[in-house]
Amino acid sequence: MAYKYGVIGYGFIGRRHVNTLKKFEQSDCAAVCDIDPRRLKEVKELYPDMPVYERAEEMLACEKLDGVIISANNIAHKELTILAAENGCDIICEKPAALTVAEFDEMMEAVKKAGVSFTVHQQRRFDKDFATVKACYDQGLVGDIYTIQSSLYGFNGNMHDWHVYKSEGGGMLYDWGVHLIDQILYMVKGKLVTVYADVRNVINKEVDDYFKIILRFENNVTAEIELGSYFLNDQPDWFERHWFVGGNKGSMHVNKFDPEGSIVRTTRLLENVDEDQDKSAKSYGPTRSFGVPAPGLIVSEPLPKVTTEQSDYFVNYFNALDGKEEMLVKPEEVRRVLRVMEACRESAETKKSVEVE
Ligand SMILES: NC(=O)c1ccc[n+]([C@@H]2O[C@H](COP(=O)([O-])OP(=O)(O)OC[C@H]3O[C@@H](n4cnc5c(N)ncnc54)[C@H](O)[C@@H]3O)[C@@H](O)[C@H]2O)c1
Repeated sequence: MAYKYGVIGYGFIGRRHVNTLKKFEQSDCAAVCDIDPRRLKEVKELYPDMPVYERAEEMLACEKLDGVIISANNIAHKELTILAAENGCDIICEKPAALTVAEFDEMMEAVKKAGVSFTVHQQRRFDKDFATVKACYDQGLVGDIYTIQSSLYGFNGNMHDWHVYKSEGGGMLYDWGVHLIDQILYMVKGKLVTVYADVRNVINKEVDDYFKIILRFENNVTAEIELGSYFLNDQPDWFERHWFVGGNKGSMHVNKFDPEGSIVRTTRLLENVDEDQDKSAKSYGPTRSFGVPAPGLIVSEPLPKVTTEQSDYFVNYFNALDGKEEMLVKPEEVRRVLRVMEACRESAETKKSVEVE
């Protein structure tokens, strides 16, 4: 029998969740709730038989649901999670699960008390660009990795609707930061020693639209995350997604969500010889590292092939509910990401590194 879910918040991502629940044979979307009647009218036009509610309390009281997907504004996640847990529903909450670690702990108390399952829709763990980088990391394709750069550049500078209001949990750190940090913490295992961050409102009044985050891990990896939503450039392929991974056996660069790029190696390290014996020293300068490499010195290999889809998140979710595999996105991982986001804000304010673990 299919799991019956209710979707709370029928906006940009809520629409996708209704489709997904209908698509998977293990689930069905049994009801939709939104405080905005215009959104419910939209549901009725598409699915005339779908029960709709303006208040989550009412939906939970009237419908016999196995679970809910919470896809309302960030500010509402805490209250709705507690409500759903008290009504015995399993919960998938949209990211960021909460605005603070303290809020999240309150939510987890209610979840634990009710004995329901809780996870967060961090489906970008299945993005192809990230899966490509993770394959490189896991398989040691560039040797011992010392740097990972993850960036996302845009041109519009601001965000739609409530995303521009602080009171609604707006801003890019809550919106995209949570995905970009989650990807790094999911990939680079081990203790995170320090967080240094710059978080700014460049052209937005209330909320951040730029951040640079430096995460230093005990295993010697340093990860740098940069997002600029008003980061203009007229070069082709500037906007969107970029990764650079540096190791002692090569480098990898990945661009775009549908990844393009390569693994790059050098065929021969230049030897440290006396300047008089080495003609290249004259044209490339004394270190001979920063000029144009001589032909044949740099070789490229294709990126590893990955076959992930964002919908794999739900494949894992339903398999986990059926006890066939472990739930991928765990509450303790979600809490860790929120802790790092708090450290980012603290570091941005104090201009100092913050020790987190
Ligand atoms: N995982 C992802 O990739 C991803 C992508 C987009 C959005 N999101 C997250 O999904 C959530 C919604 O974002 P969105 O862009 O779809 O916003 P949206 O504004 O398009 O939709 C939110 C909807 O929730 C409704 N709502 C607000 N409070 C409510 C409440 N108490 N009860 C019922 N309905 C309520 C609003 O009326 C609105 O229709 C946010 O937390 C956002 O961060 C996640």
